[in-house]
Amino acid sequence: MSRQHREPVIFVVSNRLPVTVTRTDDNTYDVSSSSGGLVGALQGFAGSTEFRWYGWPGLEIPEQHRAMVEEKLATQKAYPIFFNKALEDKHYNGFSNKILWPLLHYQADQIHISKEDWTAYQEVNRAFAESIGSEAEDGDIIWIQDYHLLLMPQYLRQVFGDGKRIRIGFFLHTVFPSSDFFRILPVRKDLLESLLHCDLVGFHNQDYTHHFLDCCTKFLHLDTSGSQVIFQDRKVNLLTSPVGIDPSEFRKLLDRSDVKQRVQGLKEKYKGVQLIISVDRLDYIKGIPLRIEAMDAFLTKYPNYADKVVLLQVVIPSREDVKDYRGLHNQINQAVSRVNEKHGPVDMMPIHSLFSSVSKAELAALYAVSDVCIVSSIRDGFNMVSLEYVVCQREHHGVLLLSEFAGASEVLDESVSINPWDTDEFADAIQCALTMGREEKTARWESLNKRVEQFTSKRWGEAFLELLKNSDHGHTARHGV
Ligand code: G6P
Repeated sequence: MSRQHREPVIFVVSNRLPVTVTRTDDNTYDVSSSSGGLVGALQGFAGSTEFRWYGWPGLEIPEQHRAMVEEKLATQKAYPIFFNKALEDKHYNGFSNKILWPLLHYQADQIHISKEDWTAYQEVNRAFAESIGSEAEDGDIIWIQDYHLLLMPQYLRQVFGDGKRIRIGFFLHTVFPSSDFFRILPVRKDLLESLLHCDLVGFHNQDYTHHFLDCCTKFLHLDTSGSQVIFQDRKVNLLTSPVGIDPSEFRKLLDRSDVKQRVQGLKEKYKGVQLIISVDRLDYIKGIPLRIEAMDAFLTKYPNYADKVVLLQVVIPSREDVKDYRGLHNQINQAVSRVNEKHGPVDMMPIHSLFSSVSKAELAALYAVSDVCIVSSIRDGFNMVSLEYVVCQREHHGVLLLSEFAGASEVLDESVSINPWDTDEFADAIQCALTMGREEKTARWESLNKRVEQFTSKRWGEAFLELLKNSDHGHTARHGV
């Protein structure tokens, strides 16, 4: 279709679609909501901005079933890109999650370099570029999301050549580490150069943007100035733009009668105890063992709390085909049992751990009844749970304990900051949160809530696209601008 026949299209591309496809026993397919920060952020602005969302459906779909799956997903404006299992396994479980994920989050021991995974990563990125490149027309916008698709910008430019004027943006939803750490990656230059084929590259916080600029200077010897990099005589703009959520979604859930009933039920169940909530994907970056250690230290230091406080720990299964994730589940279970045996009266265990996905409605109810929320990440690109908790605390103004290693800590000043490795301080912070006076809690919550309401995912997405639309692709920059 030529440009005269249609309005410019916005293509959003992420490895994970908003819905994940699963095969049922009778060989049909179910779709269920995907979890994770990226999906949450993009869904928040999907209501106000028209875009087509491309990504991997979550499993291998045989040729003869692809049309059926495409049809199911089209109703959600999601467009699948299909891969065979062996290839996607090396791209997703391999290069993305055994190399890039630990690299980006400073976990050297979990990095397992493999040439085969790198080849698969290139192949999948090229396939994404070719598939979307063949649909994009002059004037369209392509917004690529996250670390699974770092090579896509360069491949897209190859597909387009000089023929099409297409703006390309990229947003990284994870940490971007310091050059000292990024240096570990043998293909560091390839990834940096690919990103510089974009017009606009976004990060959640200032540190990540500075680290990226520093890598461009150190590894590619490029000129940088302010938030621009000069690459092949073009200006590439960098943007620091922390993500948000859609607060109205949670407010609406809390107004639903079934959710109100669930809140009431939970209040009765936990009458007489103070509740602490934590919600994480099962991931070594989330600091779950350190949080359990801090609960142990807290109950040892303040034994009177043994039957007066419960930590409700929701752990969402994630990346189960990666070995380092499977081991973590056992480690957590053992640590929880140890703490419960040590401190819990038989009928009142201090840590309740749920290993399962939960609906947003259930999450809203759990957030709403909890006196404290703990986010104990040892590294985290942003962390949306911290925002979701705040918006669900409109009645009780509960306290947010937030790791200084989560990107969100740069913007949530009124949370209680914790260093998850400092077990003593962490234990005292739990005690401080449980005993905080109403006035201080309200003052902190009001300021946090104002931020959450103001900087929504809608605003985040629209601002990025606005800048991308106005970026100057193809313009030759003067060096040192
Ligand atoms: C993080 C990443 C996302 C990812 C999500 C869930 O938020 O930044 O890109 O989609 O985790 O992980 P998964 O491996 O299930 O896509």
